[in-house]
Amino acid sequence: MKKILITGGAGFIGYHLAIRLLIDPLNQLVLVDNLQRGKMDADLAELLENGRVEFIQADLTQESFYKTLPTDFDHVYHLAAVNGTKWFYKIPDEVLRINILSLVYILEWIKGLAKKPKLCFTSSNEAYAGALESFNQLPIPTPENVPLVISDTYNPRWTYAGTKLIGEQLVIFYAQVHNFPAVIVRPHNFYGPRAGYDHVLPEWCAKIRQKMDPFVLYSPDETRTFCYISDAVEAMQILMDSSVMNNSPIETVHIGATDEVTMQDLSEKLFAIAGWHPQNLEIKPSPAGSVKRRLADITKIKNLVGWEPKTSLEDGLKKTFEWYQKNPKIS
Ligand SMILES: NC(=O)c1ccc[n+]([C@@H]2O[C@H](COP(=O)([O-])OP(=O)(O)OC[C@H]3O[C@@H](n4cnc5c(N)ncnc54)[C@H](O)[C@@H]3O)[C@@H](O)[C@H]2O)c1
Repeated sequence: MKKILITGGAGFIGYHLAIRLLIDPLNQLVLVDNLQRGKMDADLAELLENGRVEFIQADLTQESFYKTLPTDFDHVYHLAAVNGTKWFYKIPDEVLRINILSLVYILEWIKGLAKKPKLCFTSSNEAYAGALESFNQLPIPTPENVPLVISDTYNPRWTYAGTKLIGEQLVIFYAQVHNFPAVIVRPHNFYGPRAGYDHVLPEWCAKIRQKMDPFVLYSPDETRTFCYISDAVEAMQILMDSSVMNNSPIETVHIGATDEVTMQDLSEKLFAIAGWHPQNLEIKPSPAGSVKRRLADITKIKNLVGWEPKTSLEDGLKKTFEWYQKNPKIS
């Protein structure tokens, strides 16, 4: 039997990770979330009907909470964070406070446990995005060992990246000094059902639903990769369950897809799935700081545990579109 804690368990990755982990009938889960972003929707309510899942609504920035948390976990996935570009600009102070404080408290809590769990911390590709902006010479595909850079401390855009940069160091040195295994994963554009309503694909699904014409399209020639959520959480689970890390108990690993697509081609794929096409596209330039090409090098995870994404972009987009058709944003 494995007892597993997922912080941010009501959010996008946390919810799908819980579904994935429940496939193993021996896993018992505790999900913690303050529902600041994750919602108690029909999907989460259905998940919580499973007798092997306990949900705790709590704020991880409250130190007193940790006294009430069970102590016998085998694995901890620390996903809770304020995430989403609009928040970096609206509440940069809170992004810093919540992301850092919740991580420090989790690490302090693990430090005090007699039986120390293995930790998975979700960093982000944002942690190295500043290197490209500052030096314009990141290798693409980008491996794990590039410099992490905050290119401008006065720009609120980099607050989140700052929490991931210092977060990685916190995890590395708490794990090293207090002797517990840890995996730092850097997700690269995970997508799928129940991802909130602020990202590009949910926004496009909403615009298609409204038959918005002209259809506004930013930076059509920029390329991105999109990693379907079931592949992504599989990668996280495999890394946590794998014993190949026994000789090197702390690893930083990129998780992402490798098939690049331009934003224009992506929109065309979604129009084809929807069976609707706008008469006109209104092309707009990239927002300042937008990167022309972003691509993870996933050689390390392939070599470590043999993981590669399986879901085709078409299949993933279809499942995503269908979910958003059934679950449009209620404003
Ligand atoms: N989705 C991606 O592609 C992606 C990319 C890079 C990094 N990440 C990282 O992965 C993690 C999970 O991302 P996600 O996409 O599921 O985000 P999400 O916003 O859907 O989930 C985060 C969850 O944390 C919860 N939370 C926030 N503050 C909390 C607090 N103080 N106490 C308790 N719960 C709190 C939120 O309510 C939310 O449900 C985050 O750390 C994020 O930075 C995700």
